[in-house]
Amino acid sequence: MTKSIRAKITALGTYVPPRVLTNADLEKMVDTTNEWIMERVGIRERHLVDKGVAASDLAVEAVKNLLASHPFDLQQVDLIVVGTVTPDMMYPSTACLVQHKLGIVNTWGFDVSAGCSGFLFALNTGVKFVESGQYKKVLVIGSDVNSSMTDFTDRAVCIIFGDGAGAVLLEPAEDGEDGVIDHVAQIEGMGGQYLYMPGGGSLNPASHETVEQKMHYIHQDGRNVFKYAVKKMAEMTERILEKNKLTGKDVDCFIAHQANLRIITATADRLGMPMEKVIINIDRYGNTTAGTIPIAMRTAIEEGKLKKGDLVLLAAVGAGFTSGATLLRWAL
Ligand code: UT7
Repeated sequence: MTKSIRAKITALGTYVPPRVLTNADLEKMVDTTNEWIMERVGIRERHLVDKGVAASDLAVEAVKNLLASHPFDLQQVDLIVVGTVTPDMMYPSTACLVQHKLGIVNTWGFDVSAGCSGFLFALNTGVKFVESGQYKKVLVIGSDVNSSMTDFTDRAVCIIFGDGAGAVLLEPAEDGEDGVIDHVAQIEGMGGQYLYMPGGGSLNPASHETVEQKMHYIHQDGRNVFKYAVKKMAEMTERILEKNKLTGKDVDCFIAHQANLRIITATADRLGMPMEKVIINIDRYGNTTAGTIPIAMRTAIEEGKLKKGDLVLLAAVGAGFTSGATLLRWAL
């Protein structure tokens, strides 16, 4: 009988650009207030790139920070999977650009487009390649420059998003180690109508008209996305816990996609999880799409809420609609 291989996260690196946009700044740009944003979404400030900085740049910085805490020879990387919906350009893939900028010579890689579930979908993909025995070092990156597609006159959108990236290294777990235990994931394409960026693709190639009609910006029906996210995040987390005969009480650390504080607290309530086990950093970073989960892993470590051996539940819901939950034993 062949022995089953499990994957574990062996290193983490994150990066947010230095420029900060506060709610006070937004009050000067659109008809909004700090009180409304804090109460309805839970964001105080977010980080934004300067002109000329792209998703691959944030990804590269995240990998450099990963290397600083866990030095190893990048030439050993077998696979790079990048979750992003704000690639530097339509093609080449962000994975190709990251590989080139990092000077990794012999590797494979590709992008995963799953909106706010981008990091989870990329992680689950990378895990399968480690579990198959084919690869021993997989870089999984979530990187998004949301400011590149944000209409800073649309108050329902521009208050939510920020820019940021995170990277983890996946390697085979030792015998008897849990590593990444399980995942559930789903797409429901009927949700495409509620959160999308219509311009610049093959349906609406970029033109004066697409720009005039603001088709190069995020189009969001916030209320419908919110309703779906609350329902689906609860459903996916309950599904993975039930599948593994666990309850919310067994989980040591809950790291959810940071889109709206109310979505996270509603899910934690449903799972009966006390807030000290729930990681919140949306106040500092906003919604960085594929960046949120690794950046929240960093916050969890900094706040002493994530330690070696902890059972961790990850969850995300995003554009598509996409959704997923992953269960893992923290190995750092
Ligand atoms: O991960 C996927 C990414 N997206 C999300 O997860 C977004 C999920 N949705 C949300 O987080 C919330 O729906 C929003 C934060 C986008 C909006 O909050 P809401 O409580 O659902 O507001 P709403 O869209 O129901 O609008 C309520 C009111 C409206 O005014 P009227 O029509 O009642 O007069 C909006 O125009 O709030 C108004 N509004 C604002 N007011 C002040 C919308 N944005 C703002 C704002 N400041 N920034």
